[in-house]
Amino acid sequence: MELPFAESYKIKMVETIRKSSRAEREQWMKDANYNLFNLKSDYVFIDLLTDSGTGAMSDKQWAAMMEGDESYAGARSFFNLKESISNITGFPYFLPTHQGRAAENVLFSALIKAGDILPGNSHFDTTKGHIEFRKAHAIDCTIDEAKDTTIELPFKGNMDLGKLEDVLKKYPKEKIPCIVLTITNNTAGGQPVSMENIKGVSLLAKKYGIKLLVDSARFAENAYFIKTREKGYDKKSIREICLEMFGYADFMTMSAKKDAIVNMGGFIAFRHEEDWRNCQMYTIMYEGFITYGGMSGRDMNALAQGLREGTDFEYLETRIGQIAYLGKKLDEYGIPYQRPAGGHAIFLDAKKILVNVPKEELIAQTLGIELYLEGGIRGVEIGTLLADRDPETRENRYPALELLRLAIPRRVYTNNHMDFIAAAVKNVYDRRDSITRGYIIKKELPIMRHFTVELEPAK
Ligand code: F0G
Repeated sequence: MELPFAESYKIKMVETIRKSSRAEREQWMKDANYNLFNLKSDYVFIDLLTDSGTGAMSDKQWAAMMEGDESYAGARSFFNLKESISNITGFPYFLPTHQGRAAENVLFSALIKAGDILPGNSHFDTTKGHIEFRKAHAIDCTIDEAKDTTIELPFKGNMDLGKLEDVLKKYPKEKIPCIVLTITNNTAGGQPVSMENIKGVSLLAKKYGIKLLVDSARFAENAYFIKTREKGYDKKSIREICLEMFGYADFMTMSAKKDAIVNMGGFIAFRHEEDWRNCQMYTIMYEGFITYGGMSGRDMNALAQGLREGTDFEYLETRIGQIAYLGKKLDEYGIPYQRPAGGHAIFLDAKKILVNVPKEELIAQTLGIELYLEGGIRGVEIGTLLADRDPETRENRYPALELLRLAIPRRVYTNNHMDFIAAAVKNVYDRRDSITRGYIIKKELPIMRHFTVELEPAK
């Protein structure tokens, strides 16, 4: 008999989570103004809001924390992290930051001016926020297939090279500070980018004399997909694949809260000394001295170790295997989601589930609220709220897809939890015809409104 799949770790410490009644959840949801970000985490049974900063650190990471060097300048922990980053990415220079968006803030402060153009494959919302805040423009060049949740493609996060070249041809190179390649492509469903595509983007970048930035939050999961799906990579190690991926880029921003399995942290890494120097002033202004940049010594140590563990093949097999397991359960129940299952999450196709809710009433958000009421599960809307208003016209931007992301934290939940999630989704799906009304906005901020928006049921 073939031995079944099993986790590549065992559990040393646990945290209690509690179920609640539907009546309690209805009250809590109302008190939270129907915004899942406003719920106390104690009111959530299974928290799939994000896989960011929610992972379980290992015994080795906790041990590394005890050895943190808290010196203001030149700490051992900094050099430990520098070594780990350069071994895994090949980049010789780096600046620590407190998280991914801080890395974007520092790098973009040095790079972007008003009117600039940054093409990419579905820029993440904070990335886009930082671009638009500087009165520059993010142009999405993701392949069209990513917008059809039914198409099964091994690398559905890819950049459309034709679309990218059109942008590079249209604008003078002084207006394009860099191309932003996000691996994996979070917004499109945690879908990976192939090595062939990374290479293609890099060739175009070189042809037009433009730099390539890799938004690397989930780079190790991307490497796993390259190893298991792309021709010619099955014999290569995850580390070899990472070195090749980053070999095509000029710099990377990293939210270490994802693939480096720490609760807080980030960095920018650079190929060219000049870019590193240009960012130092902004690091000092916004983050801290260049050898700690918003992180304590112990956190840099945990991150150095997390990068090593996050690029371990067996760990990645467990991790991505769990998302695939949830996907298979949903398949059994016939539930539509962005196919194939992503690296860090399942993205439910809310438009195909709640067919009776009009788009003005926030379809994906409505599904998120229903799933919370059903099972105390908290997902996150990737739909109209997240898409925000057009910065110029202030009109709502209705995206092609209305998705509810169920992001799975790393090393936190078991496959029994996955069964529970699938059953709750099925129950909502079974009563989908009776859900006809959604929610409308009471209050919102001018940018990144989804975090704090207040809603009320549509009447
Ligand atoms: N880039 C990507 C692709 C991300 O997914 C995120 C964060 C960031 C940058 C920003 O990093 O949170 O450390 O400041 N994504 C989280 C999520 C918040 O839930 O997907 P950060």
